[in-house]
Amino acid sequence: MHDYQSNLDSSVPLDLGPDGSGPLYERLARALREAIRCSRLPAGSLLPPSRILAADLGCSRWVVTEAYAQLATAGYVEARTGSGTRVRVPGTTPARPRDQPPASARATGRIDMAPGLPDLRAFPAARWAAAVRSAAATLSIADLGYPDPAGHQALREVLAEYLTRARGAQADPGHLTICASATDGIGRICRALRRAGCRAVAVEDPGWHRAREVAGAAGLAIRPVPVDDHGMRADLPSDVGAVIVRPAHQFPAGVVLSAPRRAALLDWARRTGGLIIEDDYDAEYRYDRRPVTAVQGAGPSHVALLGSVSKILSPALRIGWVVSPPAWTSALREPPAAAPPVLDQLAFAAFLRSGSYDRHLRAGRKRYRARRDNLVAALTASIRRPPSQAPPPDCTCYSAQAPKRTARLSAVTRSSWASGSRTWTDTAAASSHGKDWYSATGTWPTIRSMKASHCSRQPSTGYRVRAGYRCAPA
Ligand SMILES: Cc1ncc(COP(=O)(O)O)c(C=O)c1O
Repeated sequence: MHDYQSNLDSSVPLDLGPDGSGPLYERLARALREAIRCSRLPAGSLLPPSRILAADLGCSRWVVTEAYAQLATAGYVEARTGSGTRVRVPGTTPARPRDQPPASARATGRIDMAPGLPDLRAFPAARWAAAVRSAAATLSIADLGYPDPAGHQALREVLAEYLTRARGAQADPGHLTICASATDGIGRICRALRRAGCRAVAVEDPGWHRAREVAGAAGLAIRPVPVDDHGMRADLPSDVGAVIVRPAHQFPAGVVLSAPRRAALLDWARRTGGLIIEDDYDAEYRYDRRPVTAVQGAGPSHVALLGSVSKILSPALRIGWVVSPPAWTSALREPPAAAPPVLDQLAFAAFLRSGSYDRHLRAGRKRYRARRDNLVAALTASIRRPPSQAPPPDCTCYSAQAPKRTARLSAVTRSSWASGSRTWTDTAAASSHGKDWYSATGTWPTIRSMKASHCSRQPSTGYRVRAGYRCAPA
């Protein structure tokens, strides 16, 4: 077994390919995969710590951890807490990748596209544990008595600050109620509305089924209102006393409520005395435009703003909140409504105060953004290339190896030859440069002359690697 503790870049050559050939973490994953396939990184060898490799490559550590995560998911490497990331020894059962949920929690498909959960593998367990320890260590005697149905004052204060800063809300701790989840908050509001004589509520169509169920269970009639490219329509049925809406991130369409619609909804609430129930669902995540602030900030007397940690940390924590118009606050705190356990509330307060929540959000945004971009690119590519024009599988990508000299044709496709100006990576001239690997860019005639020594042209499929060279799809 070899331990490559050293700078991998100098001890094992990594061919990251040309700059324009995809995101760096993907190019790095590809290069490491290649090094493993060619046994330049032998089974059992230790990959460098992400911090060191990131410094070597002059990139962020995230690039390296994401590349390692891809390789772990594909079974090339395995990461064990405390002993680093190693190339997997064939025949061993791959350890469950650190960031992969247990089989029972996984969907049966290759990619779980189900909505509703954040990446639970990324739950910041160590930082949450630190927050719980700090909360337990600073508990006062009063904290151990019967909890305030409004939620703990310390959490309401720090959360109000966060919502003001991050969501543009007008959040007064006095009218911020801590509950178990956004669903719990919607239930409390709907029951309060019903007690106050409201009969019907408008909901988005299509929309989130749980909101309808909860409102229906509170005795309210449901009035579906269509959603279009601008979000929910603002011409609400005349008999509704409230509307449940997701202005920042409509579910499931993902659209943002347009500025005229936001204004029209607020106008409706002011004219009729109706209540806007703003489910601030997934508002912190926005990849295709600037995040929008909460409608509540523009009309705190007419809007109840709801949120929870379910989509950012975990729904298992059971922590949510409602910032309500003053007229509704006490109704939301009536029994049997109860705040989550005080220790959990104080842990969340410590988590927010320490900046861990912001840090976790920043990391999540990057992570989800990269995944989304991958998915969009893959879907775009598969939609744009009709099957009849797809290059035959044997000329898509070659990697050829000879015992002394490594030669590789990367991503040489029939269509790329035809264009005559594609970027390519080649190692044919490697030995003359005293290296195993050599990268260059060139055009079709250059490729032809450089490849001639180890490849032969096939009339219909393009270049094939000559006999004597091992060839495997890259
Ligand atoms: C649209 C929408 N809003 C709100 C929620 C709230 O989740 P929770 O009740 O766990 O806070 C969900 C959960 O999936 C959702 O899909």
